[in-house]
Amino acid sequence: MNHHYLLQFDTSVLPLIDTDFLVIGSGSAGLRAAIQADHYGSVLLMTKSALKESNTRYAQGGIAVAMNVDDTIDSHVEDTLKAGVGICDPSAVQVMVEEGIERVGELIKWGAKFDKEGGTLGFAIEGAHQRRRVVHRGDATGIETTDVLVSHLQKQKRVKVVENAFAIDFITQDETCYGVIALVNDAVCWIRAKATILAAGGLGCVYQCTSNPEVATGDGFAAAWRAGCEMMDMEFVQFHPTTLFLDGAPHFLISEALRGEGGVLVNIRGEEFMGRYHELAELAPRDVVSRAILNEMQLTGFPCVYLDITHLLPDFIQSRFPTISHTCKHYGLDITKDLIPVRSGAHFMMGGVRTNLNAETNIKGLYACGEVACTGVHGANRLASNSLLECIVFGTRAAESAVIYTQSLDTNDMENVHVQTGNVHGTADSFDVESGKEKIRRLMWNGVGILRSEVELKTAHDILQDMAQPRCWSSITGFEFQNMLDVANLITEAAIIRKESRGAHYREDYPVRYDDHWKNHIVFCRDKQPRIVDECNRMRR
Ligand code: SIN
Repeated sequence: MNHHYLLQFDTSVLPLIDTDFLVIGSGSAGLRAAIQADHYGSVLLMTKSALKESNTRYAQGGIAVAMNVDDTIDSHVEDTLKAGVGICDPSAVQVMVEEGIERVGELIKWGAKFDKEGGTLGFAIEGAHQRRRVVHRGDATGIETTDVLVSHLQKQKRVKVVENAFAIDFITQDETCYGVIALVNDAVCWIRAKATILAAGGLGCVYQCTSNPEVATGDGFAAAWRAGCEMMDMEFVQFHPTTLFLDGAPHFLISEALRGEGGVLVNIRGEEFMGRYHELAELAPRDVVSRAILNEMQLTGFPCVYLDITHLLPDFIQSRFPTISHTCKHYGLDITKDLIPVRSGAHFMMGGVRTNLNAETNIKGLYACGEVACTGVHGANRLASNSLLECIVFGTRAAESAVIYTQSLDTNDMENVHVQTGNVHGTADSFDVESGKEKIRRLMWNGVGILRSEVELKTAHDILQDMAQPRCWSSITGFEFQNMLDVANLITEAAIIRKESRGAHYREDYPVRYDDHWKNHIVFCRDKQPRIVDECNRMRR
């Protein structure tokens, strides 16, 4: 894969902002990391948009946590491993499930008001869970989690938040990270940090249909790859089965919790179909439901299917799913009476920056957590509502590791950092960035989506390679285009290499699932050949 410098700069002349800890991204992983790091030094939390805008905010279902009386850690671990189809890292799953109990307890202590039933916490069920174990606040758990973390963050003494700040690239020297080059208020600067925590996940916007907000253009993944981070499991993109499919409306998420409460999928002919595809019917793993929906759309020649919850009591629907009710109403749909038109959309990236259990990457001083990281907890398919859990557990761990690292750091090294790039061969003046982004989204949706095959993947790959001309960007939209292109390339190359179907990666030309030969991971590192490795996180310095 080609690498093109994005910008000409020289760190010796750039305006400098110094901090002990730099956190990039304000989703739950970044917020939780910043809260943890605050006890140990100055923290700068930078975010591309507003503080509360992130993939976390749009999470509806909830947080899976083994806190219900009839639940156990073993059962949650078992469901997570099963969903990940043989390639989760069991030790990472164990950490997430065990420590998640304390982290969720902490959120409640800090003020999270999760729904109760009969005076105690209420638990919902979602796809591929054996038990009811998802704590939630109606269908707006992401908003509740964000609000609680932000208000706790604002009580911390040493955290400075910088909104509308775009991290362009990491500053690295001798495989060590010293912060980022960033665009803050239209000015390029170097935010120099003793330790940098990357928590800028989300790349749904490289696909035409996505549940993700506009900010999710894969910036964190792309910058990490350009910095020389190992990137793992990039072929595993999860498509959520049900996003709203209505003229003029965004692909708004229609939570799996509706199916958990008894919602039924029907095709345009009014036929229930999930029982024909999986024994768990509506609660089958997400990849199975997404493919079933696609198949029904093809069989009936209709561009969507419907979710029917009209048999549930209207009062229950409105109190349990206020956000979905309200949003659908806004677009003229009364979900207590009308069927909801749905189809799948890109939702979550299982792969990302390869880390160990302490959120360390292969670059010293750079930690990754949340969706941008690949800890091995999700394997080939994430279990519903495990993502916020991962964020708060590994966000905390990332900060703890960063603290230990800074305590032994020789700060003279920081003074001697000098990075300069000037290897730019062209400019972007005449390039239509918006059409370029749209081209990537269409290409990825049609060629690297729910169903994949060698021919289509290779065609997509060739087109992406053609688009990768050296260009020098100066605007955020240009940087985003470059980032989308870089992650689209990584996803496509990984999808070409994995010649089997597993979890969210379905190859029509290799439909036999779970080839033991492929019980491993594809790792990319810039300027090196892709490698196939057995272990999720074995890098140790
Ligand atoms: C949903 O509410 O269906 C999404 C939750 C998740 O992605 O875990």
